[in-house]
Amino acid sequence: MTQDASTSAAKKLFIKTYGCQMNVYDSQRMAEAMGAEGYVLTEDQAEADMVLLNTCHIREKAAEKLYSDLGRLKPLKAARPDLKIGVAGCVAQAEGEEIVRRMPLVDLVVGPQTYHRLPAMLRGEAPAILTDFPAEDKFDHLPERRATRRAPAAFLTVQEGCDKFCAFCVVPYTRGAEVSRPVDRILREARDLVARGVREITLLGQNVNGWHGSGEDGREWGFGRLIRAIAETPGLDRIRYTTSHPNDMAADLIEAHRDIPALMPYLHLPVQSGSDRILKAMNRKHTADQYLRLIDRIRDARPDIMLTSDFIVGFPGETDEDHAATLRLVETVGFGTAFSFKYSPRPGTPAFERPEVEGAVADRRLQELQALLNRQQKAAQEGMVGRTVGVLFEKAGRLPGQMVGKSDYLHSVFVDAPEAVPGDLAQVRIVESAANSLRGELLV
Ligand code: 5AD
Ligand code: SF4
Repeated sequence: MTQDASTSAAKKLFIKTYGCQMNVYDSQRMAEAMGAEGYVLTEDQAEADMVLLNTCHIREKAAEKLYSDLGRLKPLKAARPDLKIGVAGCVAQAEGEEIVRRMPLVDLVVGPQTYHRLPAMLRGEAPAILTDFPAEDKFDHLPERRATRRAPAAFLTVQEGCDKFCAFCVVPYTRGAEVSRPVDRILREARDLVARGVREITLLGQNVNGWHGSGEDGREWGFGRLIRAIAETPGLDRIRYTTSHPNDMAADLIEAHRDIPALMPYLHLPVQSGSDRILKAMNRKHTADQYLRLIDRIRDARPDIMLTSDFIVGFPGETDEDHAATLRLVETVGFGTAFSFKYSPRPGTPAFERPEVEGAVADRRLQELQALLNRQQKAAQEGMVGRTVGVLFEKAGRLPGQMVGKSDYLHSVFVDAPEAVPGDLAQVRIVESAANSLRGELLV
């Protein structure tokens, strides 16, 4: 969808995206679907004909944000009753008509598997609340991605949903069962993205490394094989993927990290806890030691790989000893960066009814873990100084002649490069590590 000033008669769509990268991708696809209906995107909520909130349900705070944002929309809707307000994403899926009951200003509620019907909903040709898991594939019903120029780095959803049922997690309920998109569609979308200027594709899925499908050779392919096929797309320089489950790190995928130069040396592999007791209670189906041995195999294949993870502290039943085991695991692995969260009980999940760890205790553990992870992040960043890395320029930096882009290891890097344009992939020597970014010099 284009932002074209000449189409001033066009209706304007404002989208706010909460949560994960999958939602970012879905928002783009919804914008494209609405683009086919004559809507253009606006950054200014006040001038919008439609406001779409693409929501996240993973933790209570994320879900509550929707209601405070809806509350803030009341004056706008009162001033312009024809303004359409839609709620999409995982809160829409989980709460459905409850959202309209609580906030009658909402016109449409659409789940993550039904948003291809958004235009029909707007025209009044489909129910205003749609949260089923239809048998049809939404991607078959969405407009082809338009031939507009794109930023150098793009997302591509290859897999959705989750069958793992970790005891704390709403994803299996909000996103549904694991579904892999077919190989031909994925390869076509990858080629189309590259034709529009994309140089780096991040493959997305709630359980992306669980992807599987029938290959072009008639065989059953795993995720590693899919990456090999995508890597053959002419003009595609970089591939990343997220998020993975340790139990789906097949040998083939680990070998892809050894063999495929376009596959970036970066892996987000959530472990959640370092305590076997807690991992069991979480239904993670692996032990801390199995995770550590897996990391060893991955590092054997790609020694410079940057590892990142997710952690939950204060899961029901977590003791100080369990927490100490998590800190030990972090010390052992050495992460490039990591996300850590205080456990948030989610209705409908197996852990919801379990007795909670005292809030102050969980807060203290979160602080301890984050202090350790921050130290590791700083060390990893500082360890880049003096090294030469690839940087894919994405946009101009703050200073004249400066470009900013992502390194192979996903650090933001500022470089003096007056001749460069977004989409250039340069070799850069890192000379300085700042708070949240690196500075580098072009190698000539
Ligand atoms: N409470 C806290 N964190 C959670 N996550 C998922 N569910 C919960 C919850 N109920 C975290 C996990 C997951 C990340 C996306 O969000 O660490 O990997
Ligand atoms: Fe949630 Fe990930 Fe566990 Fe699936 S594997 S239930 S998405 S935490």
